[in-house]
Amino acid sequence: MSMERILLTGADGQIGSELTARLRERFGTDAVLATDLREKPEHLPEGPFARLDVTDAAAMQRLFAQHRPTQVYHLASLLSATGERKPQLAWDVNVGGLLNVLECCREHSSRLFWPSSIAVFGPGTPRDHTPQQTIIDPMTVYGIGKLAGERWCAYYQTKHGLDIRGLRYPGLISYATPPGGGTTDYAVAIFFAALREGRYTCYLKPDTRMPMMYMEDAIRGTLEVMDASREALSTMEAYNFGAIDFTPAELAARIRERLPDFTIDYAPDERQAIADTWPRSIDDSAARAEWGWRPQYGLEQLVDTMLAGVKAGLAEAEA
Ligand SMILES: NC(=O)c1ccc[n+]([C@@H]2O[C@H](COP(=O)([O-])OP(=O)(O)OC[C@H]3O[C@@H](n4cnc5c(N)ncnc54)[C@H](O)[C@@H]3O)[C@@H](O)[C@H]2O)c1
Repeated sequence: MSMERILLTGADGQIGSELTARLRERFGTDAVLATDLREKPEHLPEGPFARLDVTDAAAMQRLFAQHRPTQVYHLASLLSATGERKPQLAWDVNVGGLLNVLECCREHSSRLFWPSSIAVFGPGTPRDHTPQQTIIDPMTVYGIGKLAGERWCAYYQTKHGLDIRGLRYPGLISYATPPGGGTTDYAVAIFFAALREGRYTCYLKPDTRMPMMYMEDAIRGTLEVMDASREALSTMEAYNFGAIDFTPAELAARIRERLPDFTIDYAPDERQAIADTWPRSIDDSAARAEWGWRPQYGLEQLVDTMLAGVKAGLAEAEA
């Protein structure tokens, strides 16, 4: 029997709601405490839940003392587009929240998973097959926080011997829980619009290539990097984590093959400037070599799975 006790922050979001379910299947419902800023979760499955604002260090300490987690998945965050509208709050939540988590993990010797992002990169970074180690000059508040966070995690590993693992998630695509205000959100919204309205207006230009991943791959990779033996891992900062890359025009073309009447037009907004400083594709050879990362979902399978999932969800909502 596993003695793991798990705590998640920001668990009611796009990733947390699916990761919580998966962790409960594996470790048992009662072993997994989901927390979020929200008083009542909107997307989480039934099970242990507590409200936790990650900027509240005292409240976090109390929860850690009660639950004594052996593993923590720290997902609470303001995403890239939201962060540009609320820069101070984004810094407090994204960096201040991480510092609170790091201190609690140090006190309780908890292993930590903390996601970084392709947003850590900037205009000086090579945009094609972006290497693991390269120029890292993020231009958004969100990206600056990811860079600071990666360095804080490396610091706690070397200074305090903590076991911390991180992935630089690309744009994550799923239908169960809506995305939370990132620059890659279009790649989810387009499926809902295609099935509901038959048309979509994209906030990025048609040729904006970005790295993306289906949620199932992201969850599996997250569990795999946490399962890897510590000796195998030599990358101190979060791992480049790749699957597929495509443009809005390419995604629209794949959708049109399945829904011939689907149309798309383009009205770029402020998110275009963010996307223009991010990688177009990712070199994830360190993740592949050190802990065996292999994505499973290609673009065709992703489009089929998303259309089926969104369609079933819409039918259920109507019934
Ligand atoms: N979804 C993606 O495509 C993507 C890509 C790269 C990195 N990430 C990273 O993955 C993590 C999770 O992202 P997500 O997509 O699930 O985000 P999300 O916006 O869907 O969920 C974030 C959750 O954090 C909660 N939250 C906000 N402020 C909080 C606070 N002060 N205290 C506690 N909870 C708070 C929100 O209520 C929300 O439920 C984040 O670190 C994000 O930067 C996500």
